[in-house]
Amino acid sequence: MRKSVLAAEGTKFLTKGISKRVKDIMVSPIKEMRMIAQNYNDVISFGQGIPYLDTSEEIRKRLAETVMTKDISKYSVSPGLLELREKLTIKIKNIGIMADPKSEIMITNGAMEGIFCAVMTLVDKGDEVLMFTPGFSSHIEQVMLAGGKPVFSSLKEKDWSIDFEDLNSKITKKTKLIIVSNPNNPTGTVFRKEDLLRLAEIAKKNDLFVIADDPYNFLVYEGEYLSVSSIPGMKERTVSCFSFSKEYAMTGYRLGYVVSSQEILNQMMKVHDACSICAPVISQHAGVIALNFGSSASSAVKDALKKNREIIVKWLKEIKGIQFVIPNGAYYVLIRYGKKQDSVDMALDILKKVQVETVPGSAFGPSGEGHLRLSFGGRPEQLIEGLRRLKRYFEELI
Ligand SMILES: Cc1ncc(COP(=O)(O)O)c(C=O)c1O
Repeated sequence: MRKSVLAAEGTKFLTKGISKRVKDIMVSPIKEMRMIAQNYNDVISFGQGIPYLDTSEEIRKRLAETVMTKDISKYSVSPGLLELREKLTIKIKNIGIMADPKSEIMITNGAMEGIFCAVMTLVDKGDEVLMFTPGFSSHIEQVMLAGGKPVFSSLKEKDWSIDFEDLNSKITKKTKLIIVSNPNNPTGTVFRKEDLLRLAEIAKKNDLFVIADDPYNFLVYEGEYLSVSSIPGMKERTVSCFSFSKEYAMTGYRLGYVVSSQEILNQMMKVHDACSICAPVISQHAGVIALNFGSSASSAVKDALKKNREIIVKWLKEIKGIQFVIPNGAYYVLIRYGKKQDSVDMALDILKKVQVETVPGSAFGPSGEGHLRLSFGGRPEQLIEGLRRLKRYFEELI
């Protein structure tokens, strides 16, 4: 059962006159926890997934020059600056996706708007949308906003891999689409190549679309990333969503992009136009700069998060009473706490007692319950202090 953290904390919501669509959804508990945590002093955040690094000085300096020399004050065409789309087609060739910059890429307000446009384009009222649990909380809200029904397929907790028996059993005549995020948020799973090939076969056999929400494709510690769009015959039925947010430490720029067939993108463009016209032009220029000069910035993010992963894994192994699967990608780890308490109450209790912000597992669908998500995007010294507090909580205060 999904539970709003803000509602649990007593936040009032007007209901009279509000659409059912909106009444039925909630702000992602990831962001709810951020808002609640702001009311406490000295909080260590393992909450929202933000890399602690700033956008590199090189990118910022060049952007400042661009602001003074280029015309950033006008809308771009809806699919985004052609220069940026051209550079992105070169980038995605490295992950095996061939795309025409003029018709098969659209720049969006973060991956988030890309997923939203895809869901609004593909999902009709009553359509069933398969998604994995634990999986990214916002997919649930986006599907519900479109009038669709989220149908959950549980990952196997042993290694958080796909349970194909379960997945196949959930497909009905109403199934329209599968959403998959690789590496997965909140488990850090890098899905095996053979599993993604099998998923693609299922999509083809049942004539389903796929949304591949892959903002962490650059961040794989063990295993190898495979893009669903790169699998032969899949680009025509897949919308791949990518982002500058994490790779270049640019979460505030709100810059992402989607790749799909021209025919699907032509439809998605209507939603993109209706909700935002185009991605912010200043950020699109920042994207061009990041692609030209950002490879060391991207390596810095990867190195920092790799070190953080070592820290958190080492510490978590020493905390009694919790279990977890070591994440192979992204920068999240989902811990199972052995107590019979719902995860919203647990996250709030931890925040109140030791001022550590976590995300309740129930945010990530039914299989998330009984867990808490920890993002290890924070500064190393903060992570260590937070882990010290969590150790005290689980071993003395629980
Ligand atoms: C799986 C997943 N998709 C999408 C997003 C949103 O990314 P963006 O900042 O590009 O909108 C996030 C952010 O945490 C995410 O984890």
